[in-house]
Amino acid sequence: MPVRIRFFSALRGVLVIPLFILVPLGFTEGVPWQAPEAEAAKTNPIRYDVESVSHGKMLFSKHCQGCHGYWGEGDGIVGLTLNNRPANLLRIAGKKTSGEFAWKIAEGRDVMPSFRDTLSKGDIWHVVNFIESLENELGSEGQSAVVRHCAMCHELAGKAFYDEWPDLRDMSQQDIENKLYAHRSQVIADSTMSKVTFNLTDDEIKEAARYYSSLKQDAPLIEEQ
Ligand code: HEC
Ligand code: HEC
Repeated sequence: MPVRIRFFSALRGVLVIPLFILVPLGFTEGVPWQAPEAEAAKTNPIRYDVESVSHGKMLFSKHCQGCHGYWGEGDGIVGLTLNNRPANLLRIAGKKTSGEFAWKIAEGRDVMPSFRDTLSKGDIWHVVNFIESLENELGSEGQSAVVRHCAMCHELAGKAFYDEWPDLRDMSQQDIENKLYAHRSQVIADSTMSKVTFNLTDDEIKEAARYYSSLKQDAPLIEEQ
């Protein structure tokens, strides 16, 4: 069958180049990605504490959030436009080893860049601590999707990064609910919160109010292990 052989060898020359071009454009989607065993077995040399998680969070918002989203759910502004959607780190936090995360961050794959030259080894481990802290965000009581989205601005701790923003830990459940209803009904119009609340149901408002009013002023922001 000389014709077919010739056909395939001709095709190979044409195909090899386009395949190399296509791989970076989302063709690893659904292809399992596993760290080598020795790398996955490495433990985090950096202590998991408030300082490390905060530092990791800062690095994450600078280098990763655009793709992986604020809570690592793969819904960042850039991430939403990609064919190969960034991994949902919130969902896999705590389910893979620290070494596995660290290796993947250093390596990169597909559109995810390698961070070996951008972040120091120590910084990669700080980011891993931050990713692992996400497990608590998903698992803890009251920290539903609604609350996570409030936390984008008010933090889960109820105390925003900006001092001008209200400290929700000072507020009673009733007070928070009333304020949110007022913003939602535009009694307090044109505020950030009127934009945030206009879509919320009564149940979501109650749930968020219950969560934030339960927070204590002196509670640590992140519990140490
Ligand atoms: C340009 C977008 C982009 C940026 C920036 C990015 N990622 Fe990713 N990330 C992805 C994509 C896409 C995947 C899925 C890759 C694949 O499976 O082929 C991924 C996968 C991962 C995985 C693997 C998850 C698993 O399944 O085990 C980890 C961990 C990760 N990213 C962490 C990070 C961290 C931490 C940063 C910042 C230091 C970062 N990424 C920056 C797009 C990005
Ligand atoms: C995009 C950022 C952002 C998000 C998301 C957000 N807030 Fe706010 N929140 C603010 C700002 C800014 C203020 C200060 C008042 C204003 O400008 O609306 C505020 C004020 C408040 C106040 C005080 C309102 C007042 O009138 O005194 C409460 C209570 C509150 N937020 C609760 C929440 C809850 C609960 C959620 C989640 C359902 C949430 N916020 C989501 C930014 C945000």
